[in-house]
Amino acid sequence: MAARNKLAITGGRVLDPGEGIDQISDVLISDGRIEEVTLKTGESKFDGYEVIDAIGMIVSPGFIDLHTHLRDPGQEWKETITSGTRAAARGGFTTICAMPNTDPVQDSAGTVEDVIRRAAVDGVVRVLPIGAISVGQHGKQLAPMGELADAGVIGFSDDGNAVEDGNLMRQALAYSAEVGLPVINHAEDKKITDGGVMTAGVVATRLGLPGAPNEAESAMVARDLYLADLTKTQLHVPHISTIGSIEVLRSAKERGVNVTAEVTPHHLTLSEEWVFGLKGEVPSSVGLESYDTNTRVNPPLRSKADVRALVDALRDGVIDIIATDHAPHAATDKVCTYNEAAPGINVLETAFSSVFGLVNNGQISLVRLIESLTTHPASILGRDVGRLRKGFSADVTLIDPFNLWVVDPSTFASKSVNTPLNGVELTGRVVRTIYQGKTVFHSQLEVRNNG
Ligand code: DOR
Repeated sequence: MAARNKLAITGGRVLDPGEGIDQISDVLISDGRIEEVTLKTGESKFDGYEVIDAIGMIVSPGFIDLHTHLRDPGQEWKETITSGTRAAARGGFTTICAMPNTDPVQDSAGTVEDVIRRAAVDGVVRVLPIGAISVGQHGKQLAPMGELADAGVIGFSDDGNAVEDGNLMRQALAYSAEVGLPVINHAEDKKITDGGVMTAGVVATRLGLPGAPNEAESAMVARDLYLADLTKTQLHVPHISTIGSIEVLRSAKERGVNVTAEVTPHHLTLSEEWVFGLKGEVPSSVGLESYDTNTRVNPPLRSKADVRALVDALRDGVIDIIATDHAPHAATDKVCTYNEAAPGINVLETAFSSVFGLVNNGQISLVRLIESLTTHPASILGRDVGRLRKGFSADVTLIDPFNLWVVDPSTFASKSVNTPLNGVELTGRVVRTIYQGKTVFHSQLEVRNNG
């Protein structure tokens, strides 16, 4: 009988940008930790190991998502820690960071500790909570940031709402510098958005929907970059989506501002035309079925030029990471007019495959993709995750790069199904996820015992 605590993942293409590994190797795991990456295959003896044949697979460090909405506590009909972490595992994520727009808001040590405690029992992957910037996320008074840091948050955000008061944001940055954690400010000036429900442009005009200009985002990003420079604090810009934001981000990075930024899979792959509900096609006439509320999201899907610029910025490293902004919503939140629909897309289980399309059509390299899901988010977190390094937690994701599949939200582990990708064919899929040496998701690989 193989010892249960020893695992050998053999013969796969091991890709760990942080450790500089990209070769056919065996990954040995013992007691939930990485024992060795052999840097060759087939010559090791696997007596006593449970062997996973990974020939033809990509073997990556477990993915890290800096931006997940778990809805727990408070909106458990949309998602729970149980369902959300299972959805994460199916998507190859072994670490997810839970946004604080729960009910109650994660603005007190008690709420944060409750999430940590329940995630340790009910979660199948690591859950790291993010604390609120302001009490109740109302943008009026700072949350107890020191207390939240002591309770274990990995950063601060009022995601869903931006901190509109510039001076409160300045204070938040100053306090977060004291505790050494990033501020992640939802980049949207809602005064400029002014009720817009999709990006301003020809599609909004054609559908008769109120449009929000790109500048609602870029202006907030620019303000925050200046404040981060002023306070010398680590700023992380979430779900960046416009050419203007990329420009101010690039120039701030050139000036040496301590900033990182994320982009979502949907902003990298879907443009405003997807709002028509025809998977990106433009209808010849507009009728009752002419929009898909599953495309309503904040920030909204942008123009094709923005999408191209985001891909370029990810490739060039101006944008550091991919984060999902997994935002599950109930069917009733989406079976309504576009104006009434709740913003948010269910992403965890499609994230890797949709972005892998950019690798398949040569727009970004596989190494850059894996780096943006592992090494780089790990360095923003400053934790010992995201690498297949000896002694690190054995968090490993196995990918079948040729797996062709059709998105069927009814098979999601998530409690919600709000994706515009329903019925879309994707290539490349996570087939197995290992967290702390234990398989937490497995679709098709054979497990055999050896010895
Ligand atoms: O579309 C979004 N949905 N954007 C956000 O920033 C918040 C999120 C949510 O919580 O539903």
